[in-house]
Amino acid sequence: MIKESKVDVIVLPLFKNQNSFTGYVKEIDEFLNKKISTLIKNGDFKGDKNEILLYPDQSLTSKRLILLGLGLKKDCNLETIRNASASIALYIRDKNFKSYSTSIFGEELDSNLSDFVQAQLEGTKLSLYTFNQFKSDKKSLPKPINSLNIYVKDSKKHKEISSVIKETEYIAEGISLARDIANTPGNNMTPSIVANIAQNISSENSLKCEIFDEKKMKELGMGGLLSVSQGSNEPAKLIVIRHDGGNDDPIVIIGKGVTFDSGGISIKPSPKMDEMKFDKSGAATVIGAIKSISLLKLPINVIAIVPLTENLLSGSSYKPGDVITHYGGKTSEIMNTDAEGRLILADALSYSLTYKPKAIIDFATLTGACIVALGTHASGLFSNNKKLARDLFNSGQITGEPVWELPLWQPYYDQIKSDVADIKNTGSGGGGGAITAAAFLANFVNKQTPWAHLDIAGTAWIQNNPGDKKYFSKGSTGVGVRLIIRYLQQQCKLK
Ligand code: BES
Ligand code: ZN
Ligand code: ZN
Repeated sequence: MIKESKVDVIVLPLFKNQNSFTGYVKEIDEFLNKKISTLIKNGDFKGDKNEILLYPDQSLTSKRLILLGLGLKKDCNLETIRNASASIALYIRDKNFKSYSTSIFGEELDSNLSDFVQAQLEGTKLSLYTFNQFKSDKKSLPKPINSLNIYVKDSKKHKEISSVIKETEYIAEGISLARDIANTPGNNMTPSIVANIAQNISSENSLKCEIFDEKKMKELGMGGLLSVSQGSNEPAKLIVIRHDGGNDDPIVIIGKGVTFDSGGISIKPSPKMDEMKFDKSGAATVIGAIKSISLLKLPINVIAIVPLTENLLSGSSYKPGDVITHYGGKTSEIMNTDAEGRLILADALSYSLTYKPKAIIDFATLTGACIVALGTHASGLFSNNKKLARDLFNSGQITGEPVWELPLWQPYYDQIKSDVADIKNTGSGGGGGAITAAAFLANFVNKQTPWAHLDIAGTAWIQNNPGDKKYFSKGSTGVGVRLIIRYLQQQCKLK
């Protein structure tokens, strides 16, 4: 019984204008002589989204109760649940409570219960993530919450819900790893360090990991990655991690791993340059995702490919005007050394074709122009395949990581025609910078292989206030991990 639960506090979720209760709320309201009904009747608790009312009562084992608002029932969706569960988790941590019991938020809605449980746990786990590795005063850091009990009335649902809880924990592990990699500053997360992490998670999770060093890249002719890296003292790396869970051709996921992007010779302005430690967010996403994929034992083959480099400036840097040759032989003319992401992804994309993939999906903090186009609310989606684009869109709608498709029409390809090489790395005027970047990438995949590019420049990290997403604090969001896993789980179900 939830009311006898030996925890610091019981949390009861309530809709706005709710005047009749079911389940645990009804039980506790009756036990407390209609106290909850009275609080609502008197206007002390309205049930607005994320509203919290703490109510002490000695007759409960927990000695206190929290009413948590979910807003209007008709507006309640997965994102409402994520935000409410984040609000309450953060409140409980702030109060220094160590344990709480609650029910499934929105249980009474006629919706997919598993998705609701998952959203509730995502909101909880994502909001409690901290990145305090570099804080020396450990005493003043938020203290962890030890336990959360979720009570479920219908015992027939216990099994389903336990397995969703386990799955969500696996996904949250991948997201935390992604956020750690992205949040860590460039001096502590060099290409070599990322490669070591990849090797470690691979051996811990029965993944197969290969690390290409610069010698191997030279043999293969990966001129994009080598050129961007040549101004840095840190050697470039390319990681290939394989999850062998099925018998079909693999799905390849690729992540841009620029551990710091100064812009190179085409140097960026100083303000906000520090944020370019997040330019490895695509890499972080695919490494986090493959860890989760392995923990989830997804019955498919997935290969993660991550090109890693710094983009710095020195006497050995690559320069505007240079022509470089990518893996597979295509050449590109460098117009701007700050458009480096597409150069390293070009090698990774064309190399990925050697695995005869069923689909290729890349994640990259590729362009500031994508932020101009979509703001920080959606990632840019570009694809040569309608079904893949639709599947990714649908996945993002459920996971709360919206993606929005932008067109890849011929005039955008024309903007990156070069006089001296096959293509050039920036468009000559005409705007549409997120699209010309995607058009550049499209040159390195073939039409038969479904490919999608996700420009996560606006969604990979939060610089100012998290705004509408209560479950994120400042810093990396790990965007894309949930999206890609949902997409892959969907592919598994369809098999
Ligand atoms: N990493 C940046 C893109 C970026 C900028 C992501 C700001 C998130 C926030 C990328 O390498 C870059 O610098 N792109 C240039 C391309 C331009 C030179 C064509 C850009 O967007 O300005
Ligand atoms: Zn750049
Ligand atoms: Zn970059």
